[in-house]
Amino acid sequence: MINQHTLPVTFIKSATETNRQANSFRFPLFLQPKHRFILILIMPYTPLTILAQQRINRIIKAGDTCIDATMGNGHDTLFLAQSVGTTGRVYAFDIQNTAVEATRALLIHNQLQSRVNVIKASHQVMQDYITDPVKAIMFNLGYLPDGNKSIITRTTNTLAALNASIKLLTTPGCLTIIAYPGHAGGEDEAATIKDWARQLSDIYFQIEYIYPQSSRNRAPELTIITRC
Ligand SMILES: C[S@@+](CC[C@H](N)C(=O)[O-])C[C@H]1O[C@@H](n2cnc3c(N)ncnc32)[C@H](O)[C@@H]1O
Repeated sequence: MINQHTLPVTFIKSATETNRQANSFRFPLFLQPKHRFILILIMPYTPLTILAQQRINRIIKAGDTCIDATMGNGHDTLFLAQSVGTTGRVYAFDIQNTAVEATRALLIHNQLQSRVNVIKASHQVMQDYITDPVKAIMFNLGYLPDGNKSIITRTTNTLAALNASIKLLTTPGCLTIIAYPGHAGGEDEAATIKDWARQLSDIYFQIEYIYPQSSRNRAPELTIITRC
């Protein structure tokens, strides 16, 4: 779903930057200078899934607890399981059997199944399964690639899961969300995530939006929330 020829652009929400600095850049419609978001970087194309993993990789260490909120085919679950080492723990959620089976198979193939709780449940009930503080949480929204496209993340559930995530996240901690405005319901979900991220406290959270310059084509977007 990611356009291979687009350049991602990163914006960081910063309470310390002045509006004068902010005004020297052209802001996308959803980010106005009054919100004090600044353009800090234009980077060459890297898939957003890889960018999300790179950012999570900066923060997690052996022994940490992490969550894959949308396990899908298990790629992020596998990445997290490899990162937390033998003493760490990963909780992976999905609502469909196909995803659960694909993830289990991938973990078994890599002999990492003992590090992961594979949970067939909706992500908004994560607090029923996890009481430990969590270092990193990954959301990759939308539908299962090559799967049933009618089984997609829903804005209401996503919002509830994000609120649960923020309560579990450690300091420092990192939450990544990849949203897909291009499919039915995806635009509303992506807009809701931006609104939700904007209301988080500047004191405790750094918010970054990474999205391709061709975002008018409703390309995928990555939001990175760092608790610091
Ligand atoms: C884009 S895929 C995730 C890809 C995955 N991260 C990977 O690495 O392969 C989105 C997944 O979200 C799942 N999903 C949809 N609604 C969900 C919910 N309420 N709770 C948990 N997972 C959900 C879908 O079943 C689908 O497998």
